[in-house]
Amino acid sequence: MRILMCPPTKFDVVYEINPWMDVANKPDKKLALEQWNTLYNLYKKLGVEVELIEQGDNLPDMVFTANGGTVLDNKFISGNFRFKERKGEEAHFQKWFKKNGYQVITLPHNQGGEGDALFYRKTLYMGYGFRSDKKAHKEMAKLLHVPIVSLKLINPYFYDFDTTFCAVGDRAVLIYPEAYAEKDREKALSIPGAIAMTKQQADNFIANSVYIDGKLLVGYLDEDLKKKLKKIDVEPILLNMSEYKKAGGGIKCLTLYLERN
Ligand code: ARG
Repeated sequence: MRILMCPPTKFDVVYEINPWMDVANKPDKKLALEQWNTLYNLYKKLGVEVELIEQGDNLPDMVFTANGGTVLDNKFISGNFRFKERKGEEAHFQKWFKKNGYQVITLPHNQGGEGDALFYRKTLYMGYGFRSDKKAHKEMAKLLHVPIVSLKLINPYFYDFDTTFCAVGDRAVLIYPEAYAEKDREKALSIPGAIAMTKQQADNFIANSVYIDGKLLVGYLDEDLKKKLKKIDVEPILLNMSEYKKAGGGIKCLTLYLERN
């Protein structure tokens, strides 16, 4: 696996663009750096290739590289940020991908990068409603030549699809159906290998976990989740991501997949 991360040199909460953010509840910078380093070191220990991008000025959310775009092989489809507060990140990500030999593609409609687009068993599952426009889904399907499934997000606490959906390799997918429009809940539950998470698990960003070789990096763990993971022979590794939760992010948000295997 190969991923892109952004060291949190300028991470902060200075505006509120999702309900988790509160400018009066700032992250502890030192602790945030420690938590990021722990995640980074764990990735390295697990044999993940980690590429780094430098955080731009006045872009406190750029640490959440997942929103930068979506990668398949040599193509980078740049995120098209809905909020002006994050718009400036686009140029930084596009520059990095160009420099690293990728074909950089931009979209006319809003799209939240991998925050709203995740692969599971060769299909691209995509969310829309808060950060992405549904029109971007068809555009991406055409550009990447992959089948897509669209799910509408309705709960502002789960504004990005990657807070509701987590592929556990090809073994299973953890989903939070309550975050989807009623018309889409059955569709979500009928995804092969779908395992519904509890509200408690969703609130603790279990969907924002990262799977690596039989292990799931999680920011929260309870007995029910342990059982669910044991059934599919997956070992959880618990990390404390408290400072990123204050910005509405977690492990997966800090991780952009460049190569999934
Ligand atoms: N504060 C960031 C925002 O609201 C958090 C982004 C989290 N990223 C994610 N992929 N869910 O945009």
